[in-house]
Amino acid sequence: MAGTAYDRLQTELRAAPRTWLITGVAGFIGSNLLEALLKLDQRVAGLDNFSTGKRKNLAEVKGLVSARQWAGFRLVEGDIGDLETCREACAGVDFVLHEAALGSVPLSMNDPLGAHRANVTGFLNMLVAARDAKARRFVYASSSAIYGNDRAVPITEERIGKPLSPYAATKAINELYAQTFAQAYGFASIGLRYFNVFGPRQDPTGAYAAVIPQWITAMLRQAPVYINGDGETSRDFCFIANVVQANLLAATTGHAEAVNEAYNVALGKRTTLNELFHSLQLTLRAKDAALPMQQPVYREFRAGDVRHSLADISKAQRLLGYAPTHDIEGGLALAMDWYRANLT
Ligand SMILES: NC(=O)c1ccc[n+]([C@@H]2O[C@H](COP(=O)([O-])OP(=O)(O)OC[C@H]3O[C@@H](n4cnc5c(N)ncnc54)[C@H](O)[C@@H]3O)[C@@H](O)[C@H]2O)c1
Repeated sequence: MAGTAYDRLQTELRAAPRTWLITGVAGFIGSNLLEALLKLDQRVAGLDNFSTGKRKNLAEVKGLVSARQWAGFRLVEGDIGDLETCREACAGVDFVLHEAALGSVPLSMNDPLGAHRANVTGFLNMLVAARDAKARRFVYASSSAIYGNDRAVPITEERIGKPLSPYAATKAINELYAQTFAQAYGFASIGLRYFNVFGPRQDPTGAYAAVIPQWITAMLRQAPVYINGDGETSRDFCFIANVVQANLLAATTGHAEAVNEAYNVALGKRTTLNELFHSLQLTLRAKDAALPMQQPVYREFRAGDVRHSLADISKAQRLLGYAPTHDIEGGLALAMDWYRANLT
């Protein structure tokens, strides 16, 4: 059969729709999963407490799908800290995509107990509820933060470093619980270690905004763009469509060896901050030639930032059939369209 594993999967899902639960559905990654699944005519339940998620993300998805597709969505408003809410959300679902978490490293440094409540207690509630509801698979958001002080580039999945923040510790504990539920109860899960994800609906506001939305916002407003350090710091930036693909492949893989594992989800290429700045300037100029070229403002390195981060994605390629569809430039162009439409 022609096409990639993901092409084949999308055809299969359209022909035989399943029922999914997305936790954190009003957030950046959750709302993009919702859009993709509804466009594939799936039935979707979503759980969110709207702590960092936004109602306007859901409203935007509603506008991007047909009325019939939107009718396939059921929202449960509540907190994963409450087991009964998790049970209500899990009722009748085939696959769980668990994204809800307190997702910020600096926030977790300030509030380790809050991070633990959402990311560990909430995670365990979701595992118990999904197991009891007999969900076929539990796919959950882990993080590249799990590599902590291990600085190998590219980094492979078996190398777990020492956690450098409460956030990283919570994601390591998630993986431990998922493995435990596989051993103790035969409950199937897959962890996805996202590297720096970007794309439409990623929040550009607040002190903890990620670099791409922060810089795009500054560029659109002709405000200064700050680079921490010399700009040679590098990251493996991953467009959201690749993350959506990894989730759908992980939920549905029939490959026994692929289950109860964790995977790097990234592009597998590193981009320095200087290169990112340059690409964003070119992307912006391509959309609006009238905007003047900007120069970045260099300032001190930020304490605690790792110098380089790069994923080895061969495990996901081999066991899940993961094949990123969007490189940095393609992703930045789509992200830029969204920020231009929503910020200006
Ligand atoms: N964005 C990235 O680059 C990245 C990288 C690594 C891992 N992750 C992980 O991916 C997941 C999604 O991240 P995101 O970038 O979409 O963040 P986000 O903040 O946009 O989304 C998180 C969503 O979870 C909801 N939520 C938080 N706590 C909750 C609770 N207790 N009960 C119910 N809902 C709750 C929020 O309201 C929000 O809608 C998180 O688990 C995060 O740790 C993200």
